[in-house]
Amino acid sequence: MADGTERRDDVKEDDVQDEARYAPPGEKRRDGGGRGDPNGGEKPQGQRNGQAASERVGEVGSGPPPEDTIIELRDLHKSFGDLDVLNGASLAVEDGTSAVVMGGSGAGKSVLLKHVVKLLTPDYGEPWVKGRRVDQMTGGELDDLRLSIGYLFQGGALFDSMSVEENMNFFLRRHSDLSEGERQDRIEETLSWVKLEDTAPKYPAELSGGQQKRIGLARAIVLQPEILLYDEPTTGLDPVSVRTVSELIVRLRDERGISSVAITHDLLCAEIIADRAHFIYEGKILESGSLEDLKHSDHPALRNFFGS
Ligand SMILES: Nc1ncnc2c1ncn2[C@@H]1O[C@H](COP(=O)(O)OP(=O)(O)OP(=O)(O)O)[C@@H](O)[C@H]1O
Ligand SMILES: [Mg+2]
Repeated sequence: MADGTERRDDVKEDDVQDEARYAPPGEKRRDGGGRGDPNGGEKPQGQRNGQAASERVGEVGSGPPPEDTIIELRDLHKSFGDLDVLNGASLAVEDGTSAVVMGGSGAGKSVLLKHVVKLLTPDYGEPWVKGRRVDQMTGGELDDLRLSIGYLFQGGALFDSMSVEENMNFFLRRHSDLSEGERQDRIEETLSWVKLEDTAPKYPAELSGGQQKRIGLARAIVLQPEILLYDEPTTGLDPVSVRTVSELIVRLRDERGISSVAITHDLLCAEIIADRAHFIYEGKILESGSLEDLKHSDHPALRNFFGS
């Protein structure tokens, strides 16, 4: 699709800028200070109608989501000029689970994800993460949030002029107060976790597409985040690499309890990682459920997407 490709190129450029903005330089705050009471004294609502967290989204203005909801996007609207991209998109992610967002090219998936870390702010609606309104965060509180969320950008966003090790060390130096020795240990441990220990001295151009994705993943987890956001973690990979990367994502959930949202077009990846799947269409989450529910939907947009 010609215009889809153009859009994708635009977005890649944006991603590089976003990556630079994502975790701005600054002192890492270890005391968790400056958070105050972000909820303005409101109490979490508890379970709504006894449903699992991922099945219900609160109303705008109804206060923080229940504690087992790690991310809740409520009725997000976002336009760029005349282009309405999000038009009431809502979803909730239960703590410790992996959510997948699927949808056509240009449907607004990357735009949706960027609201989770305030790379974009909504025109209307409420993005909640860990019981707090992300769009209202500034300064140290926003830095803390971004340090607790790893973001695997659609374009990978590794620095081409730095080796793998330098890429990771740069990130750690900027965003942690670990000593040089601790940084080296962390880099080694993280690279062995993605099974790419021997790539440390290599440059991104010397790696295969699958290895680059795994290094991008390593960099996203090197600060040991609580939440991971993946924008197309497997696009362009062969099925073996898709499986390797997807299984790493599952291990991050199962062994480290990391909650995640992954955007993907890739059915194999979605099958491996999705606890819950969401389909975005015309700026809204059209359906949420198991991947099987989505595959068997009668809605023409879903049938078209899944080719059923
Ligand atoms: N910062 C921006 N400024 C202007 N328009 C934007 C911006 N970011 C995204 N858009 C537009 O919003 C629409 C949705 O973009 P988005 O990147 O979310 O699509 P997507 O669903 O991630 O698509 P793909 O599957 O191709 O990555 C596109 O038309 C895009 O050009
Ligand atoms: Mg995208």
